[in-house]
Amino acid sequence: MNKNIAVIRGDGIGPEIVEQALKVLDKIAELFGHNFTYSDVDMGGCAIDKWGDPLPKEMLDKCINSDSVLLGAVGGDKWNDVPAHMRPEKGLLRLRAGMGVYSNNRPAKIWKQLADASPLKSSIVDKGIDFIIVRELIGGIYFGEHKTVEENQEKVATDVLSYSEKEIERIGRIGFETARKRNKRLCSVEKSNVLDSSRLWKAVMHRLSAEYPDVELLDMLVDNCAMQIVKNPAQFDVIVTENMFGDILSDEASMITGSIGMIPSSSLGDGTCGLYEPIHGSAPDIAGQDIANPIGTILSAAMMLKYGFDMEKESNAIENAVSDVLDKGYRCADIMSDGCKKVGCSEMGRLIIENLHK
Ligand code: IPM
Ligand code: MG
Repeated sequence: MNKNIAVIRGDGIGPEIVEQALKVLDKIAELFGHNFTYSDVDMGGCAIDKWGDPLPKEMLDKCINSDSVLLGAVGGDKWNDVPAHMRPEKGLLRLRAGMGVYSNNRPAKIWKQLADASPLKSSIVDKGIDFIIVRELIGGIYFGEHKTVEENQEKVATDVLSYSEKEIERIGRIGFETARKRNKRLCSVEKSNVLDSSRLWKAVMHRLSAEYPDVELLDMLVDNCAMQIVKNPAQFDVIVTENMFGDILSDEASMITGSIGMIPSSSLGDGTCGLYEPIHGSAPDIAGQDIANPIGTILSAAMMLKYGFDMEKESNAIENAVSDVLDKGYRCADIMSDGCKKVGCSEMGRLIIENLHK
């Protein structure tokens, strides 16, 4: 198969981790007889430096016209003082909205080899951690009006949180469909004891629930969910939630699996062109030192193969290679534990390629 992949290396550790993922994709192409071509896209801080814009229109067009987009990470202290609409993160938000990828899927799964790296007690980890957070990605407070005005000699800042029934329904359906393919338990997370947008969220989820009688729907308030994720993560199968709650809960969920450096994500809309990225940030403090963990990005490439290109065997081959390398005791710094062999970013990439088999 021929596929054209838009590649956003981004800032900080972005370029180094993406480099490893591309090498893995090249090896997959060689083993399985595919042809992947890559077009480079500037987004984030590097695009601000080069073009004065975190996501120039031509760059967004390149992404929309590709078969799928692979992204490293964007942002860094260097751009902290630029105006809000020019921040590197704004490029990412415009990319998500421009591509129409409203459903962000973030798995929280513990690799058995990394159970020791989880900060939770083994009595909790041993019950298993394997759930997925389906996060609404292009609505809510991230995309409402943001403004800061001067009133009575002081500044007042406002961010608007609004959801329409249609927006809730389309992400709700992804939640139900995802649960249907897994263990058929969907937990809808909101703050309906305080927020109108959450009360509408809950009502829509219950209306949809009638169409998915095989899926068990449970409502949970977001503060309780934050607690349950550390208390008893084994209870979760699929969590569906709005944009900001999903942002926060997915960081929490990733940490209990050992390291945020291991977690990939897919962002999908109604078409097949998706956005695939690790959920961690650009980690400028360790950039350029060849110590970042490339596995989250490599697994994001694996998700792209499975969900974007229908290449399930190829995707499984990558996951198996990662598992084999972990079995052999190789670890990056973020997942290091006693008795293991510590390796850098490029060496981890090389080892994964060495263990890739058809
Ligand atoms: C994420 C990140 C982004 C978000 C930032 C970088 C805008 O934290 O993908 O979770 O908040 O969505
Ligand atoms: Mg986040």
